[in-house]
Amino acid sequence: MKKIIHITSSTKGAASFSTQLGKAIIEKLQIQYPDSQVILRDLIADPAPYVSTGEVAAFFMPEDQHTEEMIKAAAYSKAAVTELLDADILVISAPLINLSIPAQLKSWLDHITRSGQTFRYSEAGPEGLVKGKKVFLALSGGAVYTEGPMQAFDFLTPYLKGMLGFLGMTDTTAYWADGTSVPGWKETTLERAIQSISIPEDLEAMA
Ligand SMILES: Cc1cc2nc3c(=O)[nH]c(=O)nc-3n(C[C@H](O)[C@H](O)[C@H](O)COP(=O)(O)O)c2cc1C
Repeated sequence: MKKIIHITSSTKGAASFSTQLGKAIIEKLQIQYPDSQVILRDLIADPAPYVSTGEVAAFFMPEDQHTEEMIKAAAYSKAAVTELLDADILVISAPLINLSIPAQLKSWLDHITRSGQTFRYSEAGPEGLVKGKKVFLALSGGAVYTEGPMQAFDFLTPYLKGMLGFLGMTDTTAYWADGTSVPGWKETTLERAIQSISIPEDLEAMA
């Protein structure tokens, strides 16, 4: 059984392009893995708190020395890391917000980026510890980023791929429903993105 986490980060609810695209990816995954379990993490309805002083103190102290305050402060991070390590596949739905990722998604990333748990440093440099996962990105933006002059302003894809790769999640496929504000493009962008979804045959071997 595959465990899939669907992370959504749009304020637009059911009308969100990135959420709908992520759902379409999951529907196709479920054809391949009918008994898969899907966990929805809606970071708008249930936002991750900003990382706090007590939480960072807990990050750098052995768990058996945590105070009550630290346990409380690090609870979100602990649950999010456990959930991530337990998953086989991540589907991350993200709109482009002011040329970057939604703040709520950044906050979730801040909680799952844990030294000794999801990455570590050795003499060879940093090593991601979240291995064997498949990641799908379901992205959306008002302008067109898959071609043309705005491609240079796509900070969403390289940041997410870079950050997830730092944590060991290097097998990432990105799909874009872009140009959602561009007449003549916005009308068909979601359908075109959905049609382009391709689930790799060898997912069983790697995940
Ligand atoms: C606060 C805000 C900032 C945005 N910033 C950008 C931007 O920098 N570039 C862009 O192309 N679109 C921008 N957009 C448009 C969204 O990326 C676009 O509407 C996208 O389709 C939203 O995805 P969603 O439907 O999944 O929420 C912004 C939208 C909002 C609400």
